[in-house]
Amino acid sequence: MKKIGVLTGGGDCPGLNAVIRAVVKKSNKYRWATIGIKNGWKGLIDGDTTPLSNHHVSGILPKGGTILGTSRTNPLKEKEDGKKLTENINKFGIDAIVVIGGEDTLGAALKVHKMGIPVVGVPKTIDNDLSGTDFTFGFDTAISIVTEAIDRLHTTAESHHRIIVVEVMGRHTGWIATMAGMAGGADEILIPEKPFDINVICKKLKERYDNGKTFSIVVVSEGAKPRDMNKLATLTEQKDEFGHVRLGGIGNIIAKEIEKRMGVETRVTILGHVQRGGTPTAYDRILATRFGVAAVELIKEGNYGKMVALQGNKIVPVELETAVSKLKTVDMKLYEIAEIFFGK
Ligand code: F6P
Repeated sequence: MKKIGVLTGGGDCPGLNAVIRAVVKKSNKYRWATIGIKNGWKGLIDGDTTPLSNHHVSGILPKGGTILGTSRTNPLKEKEDGKKLTENINKFGIDAIVVIGGEDTLGAALKVHKMGIPVVGVPKTIDNDLSGTDFTFGFDTAISIVTEAIDRLHTTAESHHRIIVVEVMGRHTGWIATMAGMAGGADEILIPEKPFDINVICKKLKERYDNGKTFSIVVVSEGAKPRDMNKLATLTEQKDEFGHVRLGGIGNIIAKEIEKRMGVETRVTILGHVQRGGTPTAYDRILATRFGVAAVELIKEGNYGKMVALQGNKIVPVELETAVSKLKTVDMKLYEIAEIFFGK
């Protein structure tokens, strides 16, 4: 009989509970015990755990957030923490850990694996920027929320003949902006992968007005950057344990410039954490469930140091190293499709 630890780290996202439920129920099939590690890696350092049985995961499939809690704790930042982590794994008799997280949490999982601790990763992030997998769970829910917001902003922008700038999450990559912008019929999409020139943006928006349109929707990723600005727009310069600052504010900067240059009333909507909250879509519930089951199967095979990934319609194991070595940036072919509709 094995004892499997499960943790959720980094920013939360819809579908985390669906993975936890799948891990627990699949482990039960093998008569293995599962133990929940509270608040990401922090729980392993503090020895903060909770039992997880069928009864604990009952009813959590549609719930947003994570029943285990999360944190942005980097377990190997301090030498002392690494020691505590190993001691607690031994103390609780954990045989393998399912680590559910994005680039930072899985980056730490790779290091923990290299210390000789059996780990399996599950790709989570609304940003969809992990390599090795076509999609991460949480992303579909985020783009559904953003698409609905764009639809709503369209009607008010149209009524008031305004330009509305919608700022969405996406620290390093513009997947949310590109996909939701495409689904919502955005008139301009600004992403981190493509530094922009505000003059060119205004020229395209003007083309729309020349074509008789009296409103526009501009979708911008929080990590997008004008070509002539040498730093990202931030809310605070304070860094988290993985060295990230909190981004935000580029929407306001752009809106001010657009209004000044075009003389058209412009408003800003920053969607923020609403993109990460609430119930997962059916797609994310299914993907999260498949990932959770596949993670337990990898443990059964003793196939550690891997992340479960979606490739085509199959769930396959990929090296954790591959998943975290570089970010998956937006496919420019996809962006070019969205671009066809700008200025029209
Ligand atoms: O990594 C996911 C993400 O949602 C990013 O898009 C965003 O920059 C960040 O988390 C926000 O994090 P926090 O929860 O610390 O505000």
